[in-house]
Amino acid sequence: MIRPIRVGLLGIGTVGGGTWEVLNRNAGEIRRRAGRAIRITQVADKEVKKARSIVKGRAKVLPDAFQVARAPDIDIVVELIGGTGVAKDLVLEAIAHGKHVVTANKALLATHGNRIFAAAQKRGVMVAFEAAVGGGVPIIKALREGLSANRIEWIAGIINGTSNFILSEMRDKGLAFDAALREAQARGYAEADPSFDIEGVDAAHKLTILSALAFGIPMQLKRAYTEGISRLTKQDIRYAEELGYRIKLLGITKRTAQGIELRVHPTLVPARRLIANVEGVMNAILVKGDAVGPTLYYGAGAGALPTASAVVADLIDVTRLITADPEHRVPHLAFQPDQLSDTPILPIEAVRTCYYLRMRVLDRPGVLADVARILARSRISIDAMVQKEPGEGESRVDIVMLTHLALEKDVDRALARIERLATVVGKVTRLRLEALL
Ligand code: HSE
Repeated sequence: MIRPIRVGLLGIGTVGGGTWEVLNRNAGEIRRRAGRAIRITQVADKEVKKARSIVKGRAKVLPDAFQVARAPDIDIVVELIGGTGVAKDLVLEAIAHGKHVVTANKALLATHGNRIFAAAQKRGVMVAFEAAVGGGVPIIKALREGLSANRIEWIAGIINGTSNFILSEMRDKGLAFDAALREAQARGYAEADPSFDIEGVDAAHKLTILSALAFGIPMQLKRAYTEGISRLTKQDIRYAEELGYRIKLLGITKRTAQGIELRVHPTLVPARRLIANVEGVMNAILVKGDAVGPTLYYGAGAGALPTASAVVADLIDVTRLITADPEHRVPHLAFQPDQLSDTPILPIEAVRTCYYLRMRVLDRPGVLADVARILARSRISIDAMVQKEPGEGESRVDIVMLTHLALEKDVDRALARIERLATVVGKVTRLRLEALL
């Protein structure tokens, strides 16, 4: 009988523990699918005692992850340490030693993916990363294989569960941002340093990966426009709702005649779209292909077992392909490595989208006319508008406008002019709006 595939697991925390559990729980099914058994034979974790209590003598436990990455009796290294420091060295070391790698590390791939994939290509090994985006949602597989007949037009995804949870709480319970964040932290969703979640950094990592797969371009995290949800007010969420929209933190990447858009920001989405109704920590990714039209992928974007589902699927994939010659495997970035394109990523100023604008103005004649004139001069056309009645004894009112498609640079210029009007109080709130058709 063919010997089992021997896996070295680097990190047996939440996802590592889930991977151990799923591989053991479904060992019979997995063997029937993969054609041979897949066994974790070595585990590296700094917390040796804790690791031993999980594996109960069924795998060797070592404190030194490099020893596992280099071990001659390991076929696949699973990196679940995270971050871009030691994880990078470990992945490159495993590749240099001819190991295939499975990783859930989106930050590592978005930052150093080009180097890692080049090294893997040269060494003839696979680097699989289904768990890096959307947790258990098989979006990498869908983009690399299921949709490979299509010219991808755009992707729009809710790819950070923590911020989606916060937005849901703000809308459902009328909570302010800080209170919703505290709730997310109490439930253990937000990272210890929540800035990666709420400032859009985690979503930008994932979007960078999706964009590379969709358009056959290198990873270009530095060119991603990244804006989080920390400045959103419950007022804007309410006004958006009154106009028939929900606000979601979306990662959007789009092919245009001028280049590729790559942007993460809070976005108004028509409330009737399925993706607008994705609540709590769930993830959903909309992909528009020219042949298939829009497709939607939905599921748990984080958590031990959902993420382990993706890690183990990669282990099965690698096991099936381990004996295939490297030229006949699915390319890491969906396109053949010598076919990557140098289509530029557009700066945010060159993006065309629709906008939600909210401004507080003095309730006097001519104010609206001044604002409308400035917008018209910048070629910005108003699609819808509401003026809220002033509160008791208030002389200031909120004006909320939705625009037709406009160029971000034109909107910047118009807003700077509007903010200089003596009748406009403070800054104008600008949010982007996508119809997602
Ligand atoms: N912090 C991430 C999230 C975990 O909230 O979606 C999964 O990558």
